[in-house]
Amino acid sequence: MAAQIYSKKEVKVKVSPNLADYQETHASFNWQEASKDVEWFPNGGLNAAYNAVDRHIKTARKDKIALIWEGTNGEKKQFTFHDLYKLSNKFANLIKGKGAEKGDRVFIFLPRIPYLYASFLAILKNGSIAGLLFSAFQEQALLDRLADSGAKILITNTELSKRLENIRKDLPELKEILTVDTAEFEAELGKQSEEFTAIATDPADFAFMLYTSGTTGKPKGVVHQHYAIVAQHATARYVLDIHDEDIYWCTADPGWVTGIAYTILGNWSNGATSVIHEGRFDPDKWFQILADYKVNVWYTAPTAIRMLMGAGDDLPKKYDLSPLRHILSVGEPLNPEAIHWSIKVLGLPFHDTWWQTETGCISIANYPAMDIKIGSMGKPFPGIGAAIVDDLGKTIEDGKEGNIALKPGWPSMMKAIWQRQEKYDSYFVNGWYLSGDHGYRDTDGYFWFIGRSDDVIKTSGERIGPFEVESALIAHPAVIEAGVIGKPNELRGSIIKAFVVLEKDSLQKVKDPQEAQKLKDELSQFVKKHLAGHAYPREIEFIDKLPKTRSGKIMRRILKARELGQPIGDTSTLEEY
Ligand code: PRX
Repeated sequence: MAAQIYSKKEVKVKVSPNLADYQETHASFNWQEASKDVEWFPNGGLNAAYNAVDRHIKTARKDKIALIWEGTNGEKKQFTFHDLYKLSNKFANLIKGKGAEKGDRVFIFLPRIPYLYASFLAILKNGSIAGLLFSAFQEQALLDRLADSGAKILITNTELSKRLENIRKDLPELKEILTVDTAEFEAELGKQSEEFTAIATDPADFAFMLYTSGTTGKPKGVVHQHYAIVAQHATARYVLDIHDEDIYWCTADPGWVTGIAYTILGNWSNGATSVIHEGRFDPDKWFQILADYKVNVWYTAPTAIRMLMGAGDDLPKKYDLSPLRHILSVGEPLNPEAIHWSIKVLGLPFHDTWWQTETGCISIANYPAMDIKIGSMGKPFPGIGAAIVDDLGKTIEDGKEGNIALKPGWPSMMKAIWQRQEKYDSYFVNGWYLSGDHGYRDTDGYFWFIGRSDDVIKTSGERIGPFEVESALIAHPAVIEAGVIGKPNELRGSIIKAFVVLEKDSLQKVKDPQEAQKLKDELSQFVKKHLAGHAYPREIEFIDKLPKTRSGKIMRRILKARELGQPIGDTSTLEEY
């Protein structure tokens, strides 16, 4: 079936897009030229946080609002670029005083409060490496990340710091925990100077790291360099289409890469007034934020969009959403219904964007000036070469399924996997970076997503490794083994489903359906409490035995095929079936 096209001739709101002609920019773009849009130090140094905030202090943007913040209980605060500059300088002086040096890992474990953003900037200005921890993480997830990175300082609050009580003894490298909601901290921060000279880091120096999941093993630390700001700046300009007068809202948490690249770095480097909402998703609240702050550019995710759709078409009618000009989505497939809905209700199509923690910036996208083929992820960002290749890294003809691959060399390609060179190297085949996603390119050059080539689960847009959930389940005394898959779900993209092998006594017990349900609930809660609030199995099935390869690896693909009633495919490596 031919794709439906949303022609840009239908666009009613006229603001000249920063990228006026995709083909033209694609042909002329080069990173050397693009890197002139950020400010370099005279010695060739480059600091991403300096570019996000400090450089504006010398311009008319100094007193412009950078951050409009709304807290969980409706509290409101605003910060100009100058305010953010001063606050992050104080933070930088404080962590420096606590012993944070260049290259040291300083982690942040906070809800979306202003101190999160100021401390992130401070860490980069100090030349240290910022690590971000999603506030839903519990003991095991925290321990894995803080231990692997060898974090020296942790910035958190009183409530979240309680999750560290039992694991602190296992973190010998963690020297300092700063709880930002205490009177002592306020007093100490208050004493710091508002002046701090951002370190002229080498463009290749590490700036921040984020742990993300693959199929096997514990999460790995994806590390990004300061030079990534060049790509984050260019993509915020051309894809998010940020103009100086815009009010911009990206709903992502900085525990995920979108929240770093586009609620801190690329948006502020373009001088955008950015809205941050601390609270949880709530349809009424979200429409209210769009209306109250007159948001023009909105970057969000498919699960949230589907939930907004689920709230009914009358709800958005209560709000004046007419300031919206450009709306985008990331993180999981954007279904055509979501685009049709936004055209109907908001008068605008959602623009899908595709990228990953590892790519550090939007890599394939739909642009304001380019027709949308509804259901497609769009075309590669100018300056990023994309192709479909086979497993050996040979390009495949248009229309055929293969690996979505990118040509290394764009500024925000991950610089390292923390202390795992072989893991880093395994991403590259025959001169291509392989994303782990499958898709195809059509003859017009548009890319279409098919699915993951591995067992990574995307639930509500969040990337979960099955191994982490399996390990958490096995820690429960009733569980011998577990196999975890993503089960397709209309609202959340996928939900986590666990197949669990029980020890004998529990096996007897669960013959009673009530006991079985009780244990299922207990296991879900157990994962929630020990691993993370968002990474628990919503469905559990007790099973006698897990399908495994002869070498003992769980064959999740067989669990999935069985679950979906699909053919199980090649079982030649299966232990016994
Ligand atoms: O499978 C793809 C999916 O999200 C993965 C990357 O997840 P993460 O590293 O958490 O980064 C998400 C936000 C940058 C990809 O490998 N994904 C991302 N965008 C899309 C998508 N799947 C389909 N369509 C997209 N637009």
